[in-house]
This record gives sequence, structure tokens and C-alpha cells, in this order.
Amino acid sequence: MSHTSAQATWGGRFSAGPAEMMLKFSESVSFDRRLAPFDIQGSKAHAAMLAHVGLISRRECREIQKGLGQILHEIRAGAFEWKTEFEDVHMNIEQALTARVPAAARLHTARSRNDQVATDMRLFFKYASAALGEKLVGTQRTLLALAERHREVLIPGYTHLQRAQPVSLAHLLFAWLEMLERDRQRFDVVLDHANWCPLGSGAIAGTTLPIDREFTAVKLGFVDAKGRPRVTQNSMDTVADRDVFIEFAAACAIAGVHFSRIAEDLILWSSTEFSYVSLPDAFCTGSSLMPQKKNPDSCELLRGKSARLQGNLHTLLTLTKGLPLTYNRDLQEDKPPVFDSFDQTALCADVLAGTLGGMKINRERCAAAVADPALLATDLADYLVTKGVPFREAHHAVGRVVKLAEENKVALNRLPDDIVRSAHPSFHADWKSVFDLRRAMAKRAGTGMPSPAQIKRQIIRWKKNLA
Ligand code: ARG
Repeated sequence: MSHTSAQATWGGRFSAGPAEMMLKFSESVSFDRRLAPFDIQGSKAHAAMLAHVGLISRRECREIQKGLGQILHEIRAGAFEWKTEFEDVHMNIEQALTARVPAAARLHTARSRNDQVATDMRLFFKYASAALGEKLVGTQRTLLALAERHREVLIPGYTHLQRAQPVSLAHLLFAWLEMLERDRQRFDVVLDHANWCPLGSGAIAGTTLPIDREFTAVKLGFVDAKGRPRVTQNSMDTVADRDVFIEFAAACAIAGVHFSRIAEDLILWSSTEFSYVSLPDAFCTGSSLMPQKKNPDSCELLRGKSARLQGNLHTLLTLTKGLPLTYNRDLQEDKPPVFDSFDQTALCADVLAGTLGGMKINRERCAAAVADPALLATDLADYLVTKGVPFREAHHAVGRVVKLAEENKVALNRLPDDIVRSAHPSFHADWKSVFDLRRAMAKRAGTGMPSPAQIKRQIIRWKKNLA
């Protein structure tokens, strides 16, 4: 086909079409075609606005909208022929519309691909942020169900990956829930920042034609809580700005870090050394060589994908750093990382939910691990504090008790009274009462702590939150 005819949208001042190589190099339709529903939604609203202000007739508007509807239908049915020589999603759709309705030639009035692509992407971000928020809720619900089913299971909590203090499994699962909740809030923020209508900014400086930006904004749902239109306030910023892209990728990258940290705990816990959990077969794989192996692949991939999500964020930061205002073609490269972050984050949330949902908790192993009396060494120091000993002194005394237990090769709670008293005179006859785990847990009763009463509160809170 002739290149000049392919470039009907801008070919007027050119005497030769782009080189074959340049077509391949510069096309984006292979990846931006997924914007088609948003592009068509934007074009329909733009046509409605043009008719509203009298720049096109009502009949032309109807023709354009009908044609766009048919094109969307064809795209959804897989019957639309995407053409590389038309470069991107916008020109493919415009060309297809032109072939159908003469009025299509008026659609691009007072519009540029610069404000068009900004609009498409903002519509995309609103959709994608809401969709990922829903995915995260799904994962949170799985965590909540797991916590509820195992509310009485206790495990050692770790700092420095060394046993620290006992916690309930539910308390740890709720820590993950909090992380995912903040992720969800980040997507709410992205949605809010995306919620400004770029159309009317034109290529850089708006238009000389009497358009109604607020009309378009309302049509596209770029409105505040009271339904008032939200339109961007500076045309140059609007076509150059990619902050929302970066924020979206950052929200995905941070969620990815959370997925990865959760995955790492699951990998450790499913190892023979820990054996706190066994992961579902459906999310593990075997070894082609070692018949006994069951590998935690879903978790390892969650860890790995987080690197990819961070890479996407970095691509966007580097892409925009140092770019002069306003639009530069470099910005076409902003879409693959965004789409990839969306797809992978959605997948990760689902896979994590699937892995958690099918996971079995090994109650015996958890009970054996948490029975380690050393986990209650801090409680022993607190005991001395209740006897009036300053905490620093109490800490030191309990440190000596731990050392004595090690030297005598007995568990902390099996040391003879006189040896314990040699470490500090304030150890009374009741010092061993500290090692009652149930009592120890019940005492951690403040907000944010793992007592059974607090866990109950959190279950109620999360149930309400995730309803
Ligand atoms: N495909 C282009 C992109 O993604 C659309 C905007 C093109 N604008 C332009 N002035 N060439 O950025």
C-alpha cells in the first residue's frame, strides 16, 4: 500500500511516506490497541460536545457515534483489522471511521492526539485502579478467612529472622491485611489524580474554536463527588504530564513489594525446617530430577515479579526525567510498562489469594515452635518491672537468667529457683507463672496487640471493612 495514503491524518506537508523500517519502529498499535474502548468513549463524548456547541451537526454526531459503536463491536468480536501503517490506536480507529462515515473528517476538530492519548490513559487509570482495588480486596478477604479459621493458632514472631515473641497467626495475617489496605488506598489516590479531563488541551495550547470542556468532562465522568466537572487547568502541563503513570506504577511496585514479602514468609514456612504450612499443590511444581520435591513456585514468582514491577516504575521515571515540555514522542514508550504493571499486579493478587486459600496450617508444628519459653524472656523482664525493678536492670537480670539456662543446658522455665534468684532478688516464688502462654497472650491487650480479645476486635473491623 502507499505510505502517503496511510498517513492521511497528517500527510499534507509530506512528499514521501515513512520508511518501512520507520513504520515498524514508530508504531504503537501493537500495544496501545487495548485503549480502544477508552478511545472510542472519548471520541463519542468529544463528538457530543462538538454538536453541543454547534461545530458539527446533530446528524453528523449521530453518524460518528454510530460508526464508533460499530467499530467497538468489531474490535470486541476480534473482527477489526489493525494496521501497523496507521501507527496507533487513535489513527486506526479514525481511519476505520472515515471509511464508513464522511462526518468522521470533522471528529478531530479542536482535538489533538496529545490530549486524546492523555484522555484515553486517564480513563484507563480510573478503570485499572478500581480493578486492582477489587483484586486486593479479594486477597484481603482470603487472608481474613484464614485468620478467622486459625484464630487460636500461635507462632513465634521474628525479628532479624530470630525468634522474638509469641504472636497469633491471625495477628501476622492482619499485618499483611494492613499492608494490602494501604496498597488499596494508594490506588484510590491514583484514581482521584486521574480524574481530571484533558480534552480541550489540544496539541499544546488548546484551540481557537468555542468548545465546552466541562460538557466533555461530565460526559466522560471526570467529575467530583458532587458531580461537578473536573477539567485540567493548564494545557501544556496536560499534554506533557505523566505523573499519574508514575504514581500508578509506584502503587503497583509497592503492592509488589508487599506480595514479595508475604511470599518470602510463605517460602520459609513451607520449608522442612519450619513446616508451619504446606502450600497447595495447585500452586507448586515438582522437580524434573528430584522426585521428592515440591517447590513453592507461585511464591518465588511473586518475589520475582516484584522486580519487574519496580523496573516498570523505573522505566517511567527515566523516560520522563529531563524531557522538555511539552509532548515528545518518547512518551509513546510510557504505555508498555503501565500495561505490564497492571496485568502483572492483577495476576499477582489473584495468585497470592489462590496460594493462601489452599494453604494448610500445620498446627502441631506451630504449637511446638511457639512453646519455646525463650519467647517469653521479655515477659520475664516485665515481671521484674511489676516488682519495681527498673526495666534496664530487669533486662540485664533476665539476660543473665538466659545465659544461666544455656550454661545449665535447661529450658528457661526449668531453672531452679535459687539460680534464678541469684540473677536478681526480686524473682519471687511465682516467677514461673510468666510462662503460661495463654496468660501471656491475654496480657497483650492494647490496641494493635495480639491478645485474643484484640484479634476478635480486628476480625469484626475487617469484616466490616471488606464487606
Ligand atoms: N501514539 C502516540 C503516543 O502514544 C499518540 C500521540 C501522538 N502524538 C504526536 N504528536 N505524535 O504518544
